[in-house]
Amino acid sequence: MTVATLDLNDMQGLITRGYSTLRWASFLMFTINNPASARAALGELTPRVTNGRAEPPDTAVNLAFTSDGIRLLGLEIPGPDGFPEEFVSGMTDPNRSRFLGDTGENAPRYWRWGGPTTPPVHILALLYARDEAGLGGFEAEVRQVVLATGGLAELVRLGTAELTEREPFGFRDGISQPLIEGMPKATAARANTTAGDEVVKAGEFVLGYPNEYGLLTDRPLLSLPHDSAGLLPRGPGGTDADLGYNGSYLVFRQLHQDVDAFWGYLDEATRRPDGSGDPAARDALAARMVGRWPSGAPLVHAPRQDDPALATDNDFGYFSTDRDGLSCPLGAHIRRANPRDSLDPRPGSAESIAIGRRHRILRRGRAYADGGTEGGSERGLHFLCLNANISRQFEFIQHTWLNNPNFNGLYDSPDPLVAPRSNHRSTFTEQARPVRTRHLDLPQFVSVRGGAYFFLPGLRALHFLCSATGKDEQR
Ligand code: HEM
Repeated sequence: MTVATLDLNDMQGLITRGYSTLRWASFLMFTINNPASARAALGELTPRVTNGRAEPPDTAVNLAFTSDGIRLLGLEIPGPDGFPEEFVSGMTDPNRSRFLGDTGENAPRYWRWGGPTTPPVHILALLYARDEAGLGGFEAEVRQVVLATGGLAELVRLGTAELTEREPFGFRDGISQPLIEGMPKATAARANTTAGDEVVKAGEFVLGYPNEYGLLTDRPLLSLPHDSAGLLPRGPGGTDADLGYNGSYLVFRQLHQDVDAFWGYLDEATRRPDGSGDPAARDALAARMVGRWPSGAPLVHAPRQDDPALATDNDFGYFSTDRDGLSCPLGAHIRRANPRDSLDPRPGSAESIAIGRRHRILRRGRAYADGGTEGGSERGLHFLCLNANISRQFEFIQHTWLNNPNFNGLYDSPDPLVAPRSNHRSTFTEQARPVRTRHLDLPQFVSVRGGAYFFLPGLRALHFLCSATGKDEQR
């Protein structure tokens, strides 16, 4: 099958890289006060937005919009060719909250941003820099441009910790990522058959390219009069202006991690009969919940103890090597977030892996540590991921795999690491012979502090959104 040529100059850089050389980041959220002035300010910033081609040397900035933001900028997109329902109604739609598990203490009404009790977020600027001082200077520059016209007001600044390999619970993160077909790394991986399993069609992450079904993922198309200036690429057949081309959807969730509760629970669960602690057993139970050891070594290849030599090992499946979960428990976080070759109807087959490729996400999160608040420490993950179809990718993983208490034939067993506990009893089972071990009543370790769905447009689409042409006439 032919491989699509990717138009990297027109994609925002976050699609092709996580900016790992830019170790400091902040996320600024804005609300629109005046559409025309907001467009003018964003138009000034647009030429500085980082594209997907070259590694940016010192700083990078990307821009994303909520559906309310797009509408307020002056664009109503009617009809079935608009944005998908989940993006339009947003992450905090009541049905969606139930679906995502955002109930109880995770409900949007308690969120610090993005919820119904906080001001509406319209625009997100993602800023990256090589060092902390550089980030401070860059933020000042971006604010100067964005706030100059008075059309936008800053609502929230979310800082991050300096990028390291570890997330706040202490595990190596960012190991397993799908490789976008058409990018050099994917071409190299194809030569190696197992690593080739990680190569996923570009259309799963970028709009306008074939996806894993061999189709173009639904995307916003405009009738030609909306784009009389011809700023947007034309869709197939030249009958539409393609607002989606080279764009993606960005899922943003601020996930607080209760590090003390996590390790405290593990300490108690592995205490010896004489009451003394057993650090080795504690670390092994933590690793079983994740599916990897703190170094990153996967349990399927290192079932008994950590092996830092395997820290970045991603060359494994589950069905052929560990069908019954004796090495990596069936309910471990990574085994449910990407079941690899274990999916029905024919686990172990190429078909099973192909089904899994329809539910992949590009993770782009950054850890944060805001220091102590009221005696507790506020640490966690700004979970960011990119996908072309929020409902088939992010929401499916979250609902059908992570939060599902019956995943993989289990019961009462949502994800031990990240799932909310408000709706279910939460059990974690370590499969073993002759007897499995069940850990009952797991507390909640991760809570939601905020979130929203954003559209990360291609650069021509960004230019179009910030231009006045056709917008004011529609309003
Ligand atoms: C605070 C919350 C979370 C923590 C601490 C966490 C931690 C981790 C860790 C340590 C890994 C293994 C390292 C790696 O492969 O990169 C991992 C993998 C992964 N996580 Fe999470 N995660 C969190 C939330 C989520 C959420 C909400 C999702 C999706 C809805 C998710 C999806 C994934 C995926 C897809 C993988 C890769 C699995 C694989 O391909 O083997 N994670 N996570």
